[in-house]
Amino acid sequence: MAEKVFVTKSAAETEEVARGISSRLSAGDVLALYGDMGAGKTAFVRGLVSGLLPECVRLVHSPTFAIVNEYAGKDYSIYHFDFYRLKDEDDLYSIAFFDYLDRGGIIVTEWSELFEDILPPSGKRVRIEKTGEEERRIYVDFGD
Ligand SMILES: Nc1ncnc2c1ncn2[C@@H]1O[C@H](COP(=O)(O)OP(=O)(O)OP(=O)(O)O)[C@@H](O)[C@H]1O
Ligand SMILES: [Mg+2]
Repeated sequence: MAEKVFVTKSAAETEEVARGISSRLSAGDVLALYGDMGAGKTAFVRGLVSGLLPECVRLVHSPTFAIVNEYAGKDYSIYHFDFYRLKDEDDLYSIAFFDYLDRGGIIVTEWSELFEDILPPSGKRVRIEKTGEEERRIYVDFGD
């Protein structure tokens, strides 16, 4: 599995990395994000949205309580999920997660480790590791 590694030293740099790879995502993709609390997953999503749907970037925030935020562009939406508060597969059904897969948008999930068996195996993955107060290692695996 080919993996690219980036090292960043601020949230702005993490956003920049995400913006840089955003063009490799297209409608229909699922991107699973992995990493501990405060790793920078939401910062990463902000970078993706700034690359793909810049008109929506001010809307990006953690969907911890809402579970899903929609950033609606002209041609497609980005659905930003946070699984942190979900317990089991029943919870995924109750938020209608599987219906979102049919909407033709881009799905990005935080706390993907909680549902490793359920996410599409062909999906793209990004893991963020906290290696210092402001340093992060970002592993990008787009399966190519
Ligand atoms: N290199 C970096 N990349 C990303 N964030 C950084 C970096 N250095 C410091 N930070 C800080 O770390 C925090 C990352 O927060 P963020 O909400 O993006 O994390 P998260 O992984 O989404 O956490 P949670 O699991 O709580 O949703 C922010 O306060 C950000 O300013
Ligand atoms: Mg977050």
